[in-house]
Amino acid sequence: MEKLIVANWKANKNIVEAQDWVSSWKQQEPRPHYQYVVCPAYPLLPFVLDLIEQDVQLGVQDLSAYPAGAYTGEINGLHLNQLGVRFSILGHSERRRYLRETSQDIAKKVEQALDSNITPIVCIDKDQIDEQADLIPDQQKSKIVVAYEPVHAISTFGGQEDPLPTTLQVVSQIKDVFGVNVPVLYGGSVNPENSLPYLQEESIAGVLVGSASLEAATFSKL
Ligand code: PGA
Repeated sequence: MEKLIVANWKANKNIVEAQDWVSSWKQQEPRPHYQYVVCPAYPLLPFVLDLIEQDVQLGVQDLSAYPAGAYTGEINGLHLNQLGVRFSILGHSERRRYLRETSQDIAKKVEQALDSNITPIVCIDKDQIDEQADLIPDQQKSKIVVAYEPVHAISTFGGQEDPLPTTLQVVSQIKDVFGVNVPVLYGGSVNPENSLPYLQEESIAGVLVGSASLEAATFSKL
């Protein structure tokens, strides 16, 4: 299976910077056997659409727990699907921490994403594995991607990447509860210098990348 390399731009970049990233990406030579996904902030989506022609998939960093209807201020899966979005990060630790998102909220978002043909990338730390898995029905578990992101490893929280043996242990724990075939990504301070050992592991389906995704030249070297 192709490794999934997911860029989480978080709330960074303005329109010009997003367009510059796309222009710069076109000059790079990304690895042909990797599937790249770029997740910008919503307002930037129309400005990165060109990436689809470069075989890069579009993703977002969240979506509504509700369907279309009277939910003021929400952005739902159908809106995003129409824009070409194919993936959504859900339950990132920043949202769990700053916006008080619960595993229950995230389970509702998983359902909405799947209803809109958007693949959820569900972020969890070690201590959330069982709680999150219990809230997602089994028939949905086989359609999602899980990202193991230890909070302490995220670069903006002063992170140090997870030691590979620990990562492998947690990935196998995740597969025990979510299903052996669930693709599991690793995220937390991933950069071109440290990514290879993770990506060489058969049980790790790819990486979720924050800071090192903000420059196209760096991201293409993962
Ligand atoms: P980082 O962020 O790569 O900057 O550590 C990863 C993430 O928060 O998704």
